[in-house]
Formats: sequence, structure tokens, C-alpha cells
Amino acid sequence: MDVEEKVLEMLKPRREEYELVESAYRKIAEKIEEKASLSGIQVEVTLQGSIAHDTWLSGDRDLDVFVLFPTSMTLEELRVKGFNILLEVAKEIGRYELRFAEHPYVRVFLNGVEADLVPAFKVSDPGKIVSAVDRTPFHTQYVSKTLTPGDKDQVRLLKKFMKTIGVYGAELKTKGFSGYAVELLIAKYRSFRKTLEEASNWETPVFINTLENADWEFLKKKLRRKYPDSVIYMPDPVDPLRNVTANVSLKALSTFILGARCFLKNPSIDFFIAEPQPVSLDEIIKYSTDRCLVVLKYELPEALPPDVLWGELQRVEANIVNLLENRDFEIIDSSTWTDEKYAAYIMLEASSCSTPEYKLYVGPKVTVKERSDNFISKHSENEYGPWIGKDGRLRSLKKRAISSIVDALKEWVKEYNSPPHLKPLTPSISRLNHEVVIEIMEKGGYAWLMEFVLKKPSWMAKCTG
Ligand code: UTP
Ligand code: MN
Repeated sequence: MDVEEKVLEMLKPRREEYELVESAYRKIAEKIEEKASLSGIQVEVTLQGSIAHDTWLSGDRDLDVFVLFPTSMTLEELRVKGFNILLEVAKEIGRYELRFAEHPYVRVFLNGVEADLVPAFKVSDPGKIVSAVDRTPFHTQYVSKTLTPGDKDQVRLLKKFMKTIGVYGAELKTKGFSGYAVELLIAKYRSFRKTLEEASNWETPVFINTLENADWEFLKKKLRRKYPDSVIYMPDPVDPLRNVTANVSLKALSTFILGARCFLKNPSIDFFIAEPQPVSLDEIIKYSTDRCLVVLKYELPEALPPDVLWGELQRVEANIVNLLENRDFEIIDSSTWTDEKYAAYIMLEASSCSTPEYKLYVGPKVTVKERSDNFISKHSENEYGPWIGKDGRLRSLKKRAISSIVDALKEWVKEYNSPPHLKPLTPSISRLNHEVVIEIMEKGGYAWLMEFVLKKPSWMAKCTG
């Protein structure tokens, strides 16, 4: 039995699991139909996403229930009246959460199943969509007519592989491949192996023709113009000017390409099972004394939509790296993580936790008259110099106001902490220490912390030999 067959045994949901999600769906659909007809609105309750496509993984019981409302309603009515019907249903069913993507929806939990109830419009063709969620039923149609049962298992393998190496999911948290992107890859290459073989030879930007009869060169040009920052382009077969992989990051794409090469070299079950590397607390503490690992922590006063929160954190992270580099810190790596509820962390590694006490300024050659005069007056108050170096240039040494990275981050917080929801909060800043490690572990960020500290994904071991 090869690796794929073994893995599929554990990925494929069993009959009882199908029955569980189906009965949850029936219960939810019935309730929605009932409530809608009471309020006199004609709706169509539909099942979308990976459960409808039969490309879901055992254990991932996430029902995507799209409730299609007539286009005679306005968007405003859909978001208020339509949404309220779903909210009422959720309240009757069990524990629920309000969610917001570009559009409000409700997540409800029952019997170990998690269902997203999404209000959408019933539109006749993808050219007429009002918001992105209206496109979803067309994806389901496309996948159902395109993928065979065998293909669906290949989708499961590719999803799980991507999950394990950390590139599955289009949210800002991951900036990887959506479930639909995986389905389109399999629709094109027909197998997990073939997809990896292709990916192992990709060069950026990657263009994948997911269409049959299209003027491909022309479309490529248009997509490039519409999505200038994408690193991989896959036109949506139901709406070709939309890039399904628009938000895949260069890091996620590179991880997938290398992961593919390593798997083909050494096919192993390790690419399907993410086992966090066991490291003792003492070891981690040791790393934080002989390296410069710095953590910023935010306590979150309210839950924000995940993409808003991750987006703001990633902006602060980029701001910090920029600011520190401009002030002569050498930044080795940076990363962000949040439990999306209570706390958020930004972690940095610098080559040193302090810059030299003095900063050297190298000025013009003395032969450039005006500029050297300016340099001399500007630097006359500095602790040392100006003097003339062997290269004939003026130089001076000035004591820095701040040389410790932690002090610098505390001092300049206003400069980098600018995104709207984070701005009113003051992050606490420290070197990585015992307390912070324990806290991140308790909040569920152990895997993130380990990856940042060890800097070696477990599958990387399969890349040699
Ligand atoms: P999901 O994110 O639940 O994906 O979106 P999925 O295909 O069901 O995969 P898993 O197994 O849960 O991870 C459900 C549907 O919403 C649309 C797609 O049509 C998808 O099938 N969608 C979602 C997008 O088009 N783009 C997105 O970024 C997210
Ligand atoms: Mn889903």
C-alpha cells in the first residue's frame, strides 16, 4: 500500500460521519424553511462547500449552508431581514456566533457539527452576482459536474498535505490555497501526485489555465493587470476574470513548491500528520537568552472579524520591521499569531537585541565644498568628530538615544501601532521569557511558537537524501 492509500483510509469520512452531517443539515434546513415561510419570504436552502462537493476531510464537519433569497430584495434587506431569519434559527438550534466576512452570517454548533448559515442571492448566472457569496452555488455546480469520485479523494489528499505544511486556507491568517483552489488543481491535473509533479517545477508568477476554450494569452494579460501583486493565477471557471488564488503569499507558494519536491523525493506519511516538535520549556528559555527573540502582546477587548484582526496585526508587524531596520537593527524574522479572541502576539527575531552605543555617520569628501560645510555644522555637537577618514570623507560618531530593541519598541509604539483597532491598545513588550511561553501555550499558539523558535518545519527533514 502506498502512502496515499494509507492516508486516504484516515481522511475519508465513514458512513456514520456522513449520516451525522446529513442529519444536522436536514434539521437546519427544515428550521430555516419554516421560519422563512412564516415571514412570507421565498427562500431556497442549499448545501455548498466541501460537504456538498464531497471533498471534506473526516473530522472537519463544517457545513456551508447558503440560504438563497430572491433578487427582488435589496442587499440591505438581505443583510437585515434575511440575516435575522438565520439568527432566529441559530438561537433555536444551539450555541452560535455572529460572524462577518464581507457579509454578515451566523455560525451555529450542534452535535459536533459546525454550520455557517450564509444569506445570499439566488442569481441566474455568475455575471449577475451582487456579493461574492452569490458565486458559491456556481462553484458547487462546476465541481459536481467536473470531479469524479476518484478525483474527490485526490482533493482530500491535496488538502491534507497543504494543511500539514501550513498552506491550506485563503484567510489572511494563512494566505494559502482555498478549498476551491485545490478542487480546481485536481480538476486540471487529476491526481495528487501529478499536481505535486507540476508544482515542483513551477516558476513565479505561476499561471494555471483552468479553462477550456479561452484566449489564454489575452486572459493572462488581463489577470495580471487586475491582480498585479498575485504570485499565482488561476482563473475561476465560472467567472474567468477572478483569480481564485489572488491572495496566496509568496511564502505559502514557495512552501508548497518545496514541499512538493520533498514529498516526491521521499514520500512519507509525515507530510500528512502535523506533529508538534517536543521541546522542553528550559530549551526554549535557553534560545531566548542566546538569541534575540522579542514578543509584543496585545490583550483584545473585543472579538474582531478574523481577517480584520490578522490584517491589522500583519500591518503592525511590517511597520515594526521597517522601523527597526531604519534604525539599524538587523531583523532576521517576524511573525504574528492570535487566538482571535483574547490575545494577539507579534514575534521578532533580531541578530542582536541592541545596536552599538554609537552610530557612525559617513559624510561627503572634503572636496565637495558646500556639503562638507553642512556636514561639519550639522555634526559639530556629536560626541566624537567630525574627522577625516582614509577615504577622504568626513565622519562623526553620535551616541544613540536608545540602543535596546525593547526600549526602542516601547519608545516608538505610536509610530508603528497605527491600524484603527489596535491603535487604542498598548502592547506589552519583552524578550521571550518563561511567562510569555506558558501563556502562548495555554492560548493554543504552541505550534506557532515552536515553528518560529526552531525555524525548521518537521517535513524539511525529508528534503535531503
Ligand atoms: P469554505 O471556506 O468552507 O471552503 O468555503 P470549502 O470548499 O468548504 O473547504 P473546507 O473543506 O471547508 O476547508 C465554502 C465555499 O465558499 C466559496 C467557495 O465556493 C467554497 O466552496 N469560497 C470560500 C470562495 O469562493 N472563496 C473563499 O475564499 C472562500
Ligand atoms: Mn467548508
